[in-house]
Amino acid sequence: MQPLLRWAGSKRKLLPELARYWSPGFSRYVEPFAGSACLFFRLAPERALIGDINEELVHVYKQVKKDSASIGKALRRMKIGRDEYLAVRSRNPALLSPPVRAARFIYLNRFCFNGLWRTNQQGRFNVPYGGRKCGQLPTESQLQAVARRLKSTRLVAGDFETVLRQTKAGDFVYMDPPFRVTARRVFTQYDRNAFSHSDLLRLRTWMERLDARRITFLVSYAESDESAFLSEGFATRKLSVRRNIAGFTARRRAFSEVLISNINLGGDSPC
Ligand SMILES: C[S@@+](CC[C@H](N)C(=O)[O-])C[C@H]1O[C@@H](n2cnc3c(N)ncnc32)[C@H](O)[C@@H]1O
Repeated sequence: MQPLLRWAGSKRKLLPELARYWSPGFSRYVEPFAGSACLFFRLAPERALIGDINEELVHVYKQVKKDSASIGKALRRMKIGRDEYLAVRSRNPALLSPPVRAARFIYLNRFCFNGLWRTNQQGRFNVPYGGRKCGQLPTESQLQAVARRLKSTRLVAGDFETVLRQTKAGDFVYMDPPFRVTARRVFTQYDRNAFSHSDLLRLRTWMERLDARRITFLVSYAESDESAFLSEGFATRKLSVRRNIAGFTARRRAFSEVLISNINLGGDSPC
């Protein structure tokens, strides 16, 4: 199944490699840095726990699960084009009804530049129009299919620790955190929620905790000093992937992604 949303940093291209570590023998799928949750939609696990710090994003999943028909209705009222995009973008989500707020996010996600999520200092979404080529709005039946998929999924808006505290034996935890952003201001979809050095330390602590509790985890991270830090003492596997740097197509290059886990990763190209 295709994910509902476009997401910069999505691991779509790695899906066949990531999917091989899941088996229906796990009692639940857990993903604390969900974004478009493309691995979740690909695996279609019977039970899942999904979270993200982006409240607008998690609101969309919660609302699709609750009432996809009202979102479909709101989307059908929206025209496609730059003027409509700017008008939809200018609406304050806090003043909209829950389905219209979710529809606004889906609309902006579909037609914004490169599927980025970026906000200004006031927390307002400010990504420019990406053009019609970005695709089509989801149909009613696509929304219904996503709603069915989310029926047995628990959704959490918050920091990854909130999700990881709820893990238990038998879970499979997939973690795809953002890159650590240093002091230099960069154009990033995570904006104020950018991953810091202390977030990285918290993540490493949680990897150790999960391992101590024998809960299987899989982390994907761009090859870097940070991935080396996260990997220490765990199994690793290096994969090559074409990535879009900071959302700019012109700067698309091949990079290595490192998979890190407390299970044997096998594969042809270990680090
Ligand atoms: C690389 S993206 C995940 C992409 C996802 N694997 C996909 O397929 O679309 C990282 C996600 O982590 C979220 N995030 C950033 N900081 C977080 C935190 N402290 N706790 C939970 N989620 C966080 C971002 O909002 C973003 O959606």
